[in-house]
Amino acid sequence: MKERIIVALDTDSPDSALAVVEALAGEVGMFKVGMELFPRGGPELVRKVRETGADVFLDLKFHDIPNTVAGAVRSAAALGVKFATVHASGGREMLARAAEAARGTGTTVLAVTVLTSIDESDLSEIGFSSPPADLVVRLARMAVREGIGGIVCSAREVAAVRELAGRSAVLVTPGVRLPEDAVGDQKRVVTPFDAMRNGADYLVVGRPITKAADPVAAARRFAAEMRSGREAGPRGS
Ligand code: C5P
Repeated sequence: MKERIIVALDTDSPDSALAVVEALAGEVGMFKVGMELFPRGGPELVRKVRETGADVFLDLKFHDIPNTVAGAVRSAAALGVKFATVHASGGREMLARAAEAARGTGTTVLAVTVLTSIDESDLSEIGFSSPPADLVVRLARMAVREGIGGIVCSAREVAAVRELAGRSAVLVTPGVRLPEDAVGDQKRVVTPFDAMRNGADYLVVGRPITKAADPVAAARRFAAEMRSGREAGPRGS
């Protein structure tokens, strides 16, 4: 299960990111480099993480005209990242072009549906009339139909998204905490056991591992909980 843990490198310092990567070498499968770290660490940081044998999830959430997003996905694939994100709300053609740009590469494009920071009143202010949960399903369905390989979704959405996306879609879930962890600024946390039982394929974990007194021990606790959840869940049975 340790390959299914993605550790979020939420820092603006490439050096401290690499220290986390080295401390967890061999304990987790992937590291997430996002828009705080990438503008500072760039492709060189991605290469250094990959040199340790870990995969990289490049979480830059592309959202632009189809041609530009296709180019962005090609550039991400050229870096050898395993996952790269786009916003599903970029529309059908953007999604199709992103999926096409990744085809035949080692990169899987994941779609982000509705950010968990957005609620119903934010949506109506922007001009969307559906409740967030309906929009998540609508956007996930569209992304999968256009050939996108996976969806980033909360553990609460994972079962519904699995049903519409099928077994082959990659479902990646953030917002997970061990029962003994501090919740921090996350509002609706789920345990790794429940996330895996609900059908997640990968978990994105930040502070519960990176800020733990013993990050290696924390990563092992996550892996053990995930294994039990997978065995207990519909996909493990
Ligand atoms: O430290 P923590 O485990 O809360 O970090 C979770 C990571 O997952 C962060 O990089 C955060 O931006 C990301 N994320 C999230 N919730 C979402 C989408 C992404 O926590 N809905």
